[in-house]
Amino acid sequence: MASPRGEFRSRLGFILAAAGSAVGLGNIWGFPTQAASNGGAAFLITYLLLAFVLAYPALMAELLIGRHTHRNMVMALGSLPKRNALASLGRLTGIGGLITASMILSFYAIVAGWMLGFAASYPLSAAGMASTGDWLVTFSSPRNLALMLLFMILTMAVVLGGVEDGIERWSRRLMPLLIATLTALALYVLTLEGALTGLKIYLLPDFEKVLSGDLLIDALGSAFFSLSLGVGTMLIYGSYLSDAENVPSVGAQVALVDVGIAVLAGFLILPAMYVADARGVPIFNDAGGLLSEDTLIFTVLPALFETMEGAGTWLATAFFALMSIAALTSSISMLEVPVAYLIERHDLSRRNATLLAGGVIAGFSALIVLNFGTLFGWVITISTRYSQPALGILICIFAGWLWQRDALLQELKKNDVDAEQRLFWKIWPLYVKWLCPVIIGVILAQSVL
Ligand code: TRP
Repeated sequence: MASPRGEFRSRLGFILAAAGSAVGLGNIWGFPTQAASNGGAAFLITYLLLAFVLAYPALMAELLIGRHTHRNMVMALGSLPKRNALASLGRLTGIGGLITASMILSFYAIVAGWMLGFAASYPLSAAGMASTGDWLVTFSSPRNLALMLLFMILTMAVVLGGVEDGIERWSRRLMPLLIATLTALALYVLTLEGALTGLKIYLLPDFEKVLSGDLLIDALGSAFFSLSLGVGTMLIYGSYLSDAENVPSVGAQVALVDVGIAVLAGFLILPAMYVADARGVPIFNDAGGLLSEDTLIFTVLPALFETMEGAGTWLATAFFALMSIAALTSSISMLEVPVAYLIERHDLSRRNATLLAGGVIAGFSALIVLNFGTLFGWVITISTRYSQPALGILICIFAGWLWQRDALLQELKKNDVDAEQRLFWKIWPLYVKWLCPVIIGVILAQSVL
């Protein structure tokens, strides 16, 4: 059925778009290195558990609220409770989500811009434009600004196309490309000397390291970031899902793809680090731990590519293109949050909404670039460490406490007459009501203290 609001054309289109949102820099960059430094397979198991025990129910809360209301986060949460005061709290939570999504995009676009810069730098240098290539990979405000703007323009161009012709179309094109590139890179790296050492570290569990509380917090934080929770990205994608789809099942598929790609990335990153080690590239820090995050991506891997001469150029280009694609399918979901709100609440055209939201976020991002030392870390901490889990709790409360049980059941029955008999109905409502807010709350409290 054609609807005036956007609607995903197919189930696969939705799964690829939502998985595209979930799969981003967090998966390919964050997860494998955390696993490497934290007990390998033991971390993997913990992460899988947390993803399904905690993140999946929270994901379901967003998808179901979105699909039920077919509205943006502000209007969706505002419409669930019967009482006026609570409706205002809903709208306020929605606004919080919209601001947080915009903040996340404002730093994400800077990092994604670096990925674009690295991806372009290798072919340019190979073609004899070494100084341009160098400029693209050397930290400076003009370069950060230019690449961030380029990335924001790409993001806005996709969102401008709307749900079917922008988000769904590009997710369908880019996600298979991402999976193919990731697989090919992993297979190639696994043939190189040193790769097996990395593989062993990744796959042999060291249980001692897993049980620490800090680690659980980290793993939960990354599961939350990785599934794009708390800020309404999944809610808005759910709102574009047809009533004919079974939400618990498509939600599970999205979570599986997200976790699957993180695991797959581990088969690339860990072996690559030990291949680098075998070639004399330093991969340990002073404390004896593995280098991770920004040093890994922007120092270790480029040094590894350098040892490979001709093949290195191709590998490097493919790797950073992969990162750029992963970032783009995520950033479009963040931008869609404020854009949908502006369209539905303030009657803007999609074009104007995209230009306005994208422009404001790019402006804020430019502010971060120009005050990098003070603002960059601060914006990341506020948005991902505090705001995201806090909003996550509120969303669980809305789903578990303020949404009438009958209405929820009707929602599930839209495409499954036996919904009442399902395990999901027996467990999930109690789960989001009690367990989710409490566990997230405990973890949040620990990171605040
Ligand atoms: N999940 C993405 C990643 O792993 C990033 C992302 C997209 C995100 N939308 C989000 C993170 C909303 C937090 C909130 O990189």
